[in-house]
Amino acid sequence: MPAETSQTVATRGAKTVRPAVAARPRKAPRARVVGAQALPLNQILSGDCIERMNAMPEGSVDMIFADPPYNLQLRGDLHRPDNSKVDAVDDAWDRFDGFAAYDRFSRAWLKAARRVLKPGGTMWVIGSYHNIFRVGAALQDEGFWILNDIVWRKSNPMPNFRGRRFTNAHETLIWAARDEGGKYTFNYEALKSLNDGVQMRSDWVLPICSGGERLKDEAGRKVHPTQKPEALLHRIILGATQPGDVILDPFFGSGTTGAAARRLGRAWIGIEREEAYRTAAAKRIAEVKPYDMEALQTTRSRRAAPRIPFGQVVERGMLRPGMVLSSADGRRKAKLRADATLSADGTTGSIHQVGAAVQGAPSCNGWTFWHFEKDGALVPIDWLRQQIQAEAEA
Ligand SMILES: C[S@@+](CC[C@H](N)C(=O)[O-])C[C@H]1O[C@@H](n2cnc3c(N)ncnc32)[C@H](O)[C@@H]1O
Repeated sequence: MPAETSQTVATRGAKTVRPAVAARPRKAPRARVVGAQALPLNQILSGDCIERMNAMPEGSVDMIFADPPYNLQLRGDLHRPDNSKVDAVDDAWDRFDGFAAYDRFSRAWLKAARRVLKPGGTMWVIGSYHNIFRVGAALQDEGFWILNDIVWRKSNPMPNFRGRRFTNAHETLIWAARDEGGKYTFNYEALKSLNDGVQMRSDWVLPICSGGERLKDEAGRKVHPTQKPEALLHRIILGATQPGDVILDPFFGSGTTGAAARRLGRAWIGIEREEAYRTAAAKRIAEVKPYDMEALQTTRSRRAAPRIPFGQVVERGMLRPGMVLSSADGRRKAKLRADATLSADGTTGSIHQVGAAVQGAPSCNGWTFWHFEKDGALVPIDWLRQQIQAEAEA
């Protein structure tokens, strides 16, 4: 087991815990019990992520975001045309003895990650051309099922200083379900709303982390060389989890996942082996102000809403048998019957069938076609269905 240290930051809900740093006595961490084991929620665990994940309860987290070492294998310093040194990733955590060692590491952490995912859980892995193909093959071998790959196109990439290759302007994210055919969370409508009502595509244009968001030390140096933008995590978390879900990041770095999760009302667990990053991440997350619960309600997919048959509207007396329903322009009319069918011009059938028949159309959504009179105005009968749905979800 790694050394028993963890950092807890202020959480949603009743209990508020300040960030713990080594010299300060820690308060009891918030935890959720899974089976016989407690889940260390809203904490940064120290040490190796494989050991840490192996010590966590099986099937306990809803989503994993992993930003593993890139294995960049940089040889020598990189300089700009003005001879200044490029702040590239040459840290010890990114060094491996070749591809075989990197693959062994990838398979080990992927296996551990898959064990802690719930059956309906998904995992996101981000990487560059240096590692993403190797990680992608390994995750398929471990049993994950790829749902999408996303190209994150950087709107402000670092130029290729030597001019010997294309500007490396994107990273790839793989989104994978724990199992083939498993049910998973995908907030389709919320993502569509985020994209001005247009279906969200798999190419995302977002800037790299810079400006005030970039963590700096007292000397103005970057705290972490590969800090990801919070906007990237906002989209991922909004699209693939629900408020209250548990998100694990085994390569926590500067804590971007924790910051975005806290803002969005999700619980999180971070694992990071470098103390300096853990300290910076804990401070960063403690300063995050979570959005209020009302702001966290997102547009729901119709498929996710409970199905309400039209019969319920009649059974509950919201519409009376014998009354007349009409189209929005009032030109087409039908009479409601006690079994929730309609009759019009000698045709009887469901709201959809009769709606189609009176228009001579192959199909019709009766919920939006038929209207009833309310306070002197024509209102679609779908409004009544929404009342029942809202009641069921309250
Ligand atoms: C690419 S960075 C992640 C950056 C992070 N997404 C952010 O926004 O700041 C990878 C991080 O994983 C950590 N790391 C590498 N190997 C690890 C291991 N075996 N266990 C835990 N952490 C590890 C490194 O120290 C580094 O901070």
